[in-house]
Amino acid sequence: MSHDFDNQPDRVGTDSTKWKRYEGRDVLPAWVADMDFSAAPPILDALRRRLEHPVLGYASARRSTLDAVLRYLEERHGWRVAPESVVFTPAVVPSLHGVIRAAAEPSESVLTATPVYPPFLSAPVLSGRGLERVPLAFENGRWVFDFDAMEAALARSRVRVFLLCNPHNPVGRVFEKAELERLAEFAGRHGIVVCSDEIHCDLVHDAQARHVTFATLDSPAARSCVSLFSASKTYNTAGLLCGYAVIPDPQLRTRFRRALSGVANEVNIFGFAALEAAYNHGESWRLQLLDYLRGNLDLVMSEVASAPGLGIAQRPQATYLAWVDARGYGLENPAAAFEEGGVGLNDGADFGFPGFVRLNFGCPRSRLREILRRIRATAERLSRR
Ligand SMILES: Cc1ncc(COP(=O)(O)O)c(C=O)c1O
Repeated sequence: MSHDFDNQPDRVGTDSTKWKRYEGRDVLPAWVADMDFSAAPPILDALRRRLEHPVLGYASARRSTLDAVLRYLEERHGWRVAPESVVFTPAVVPSLHGVIRAAAEPSESVLTATPVYPPFLSAPVLSGRGLERVPLAFENGRWVFDFDAMEAALARSRVRVFLLCNPHNPVGRVFEKAELERLAEFAGRHGIVVCSDEIHCDLVHDAQARHVTFATLDSPAARSCVSLFSASKTYNTAGLLCGYAVIPDPQLRTRFRRALSGVANEVNIFGFAALEAAYNHGESWRLQLLDYLRGNLDLVMSEVASAPGLGIAQRPQATYLAWVDARGYGLENPAAAFEEGGVGLNDGADFGFPGFVRLNFGCPRSRLREILRRIRATAERLSRR
């Protein structure tokens, strides 16, 4: 069945976090990582079926949901996982907190590479751990880890956890196997637990790029890592609250469960139904989504590249997010200027990288055209100042 991504329902008044921010204002939201697309029909059917049973008590994954996850990990990621390694969680962000609290003591630190999804920067601090952030380097046309700077960070703090965003939000990199192997070697040498957030792994639209699941590398750091997954970015079901961590190390898994116990251990009953339907029946929709996103990204690349003062250093290989360099205007908060121009973007400062903005292009093309027209008009105004 072919899905019509061009024609999508209005989200105003639907409790949408993305749309509520600008309700009553002429600002088109292109910020939080939430697409303006209806969920895939097999997911909606599964939710309707679940609602036919009217009792909605506490939920635990049934065996068929766990089997769908195990099959997905094996077929998509080439990773055979023991069922007990899978820990269901309401979302990925609580799991970031859980991993940090399970793997680092309060006197120890977490390392990550910026720019990065803001909870990577807030979770260590909110967990009472130290934070070391090292900027990604831009070399030979792509964003890469700066291993020298990462080694230097270890001289400053006792780092126990590396938070990896794989693929990377916001720069859209799909890291290559050799880069991840180098990271695994670095982590193994320093006794660092890698927490690999793979939430964007099914959103790779660059035909040349191949996602490598960190845990499948042949290295001790890969065997002792924590991997975080959710179908919610790909299938746009974040409001259903269902994700999972894969933690093969039994001791780390116990500490992780303990850290989340009573705080974030219950999954939404509809989340399980959506996850199982997404993995078992969502592939045709996903492939159509990737085609559509590729078309949207072509538009973003041509419009943003030609707007005065803006640039995208590397075309994203995955995600529906573009990392836009607006440093040319010398503004402290460029997102505020674009908001005045009628588009709601994320500001780079929240990602540890001021001067940039993040654009969400996961929306119908006609709306994206209007977003890009407004961005361009704002860029022209800013560049004339
Ligand atoms: C890298 C990354 N991890 C986690 C999340 C959020 O996941 P969840 O809603 O499951 O907490 C996002 C959302 O944008 C993300 O980009």
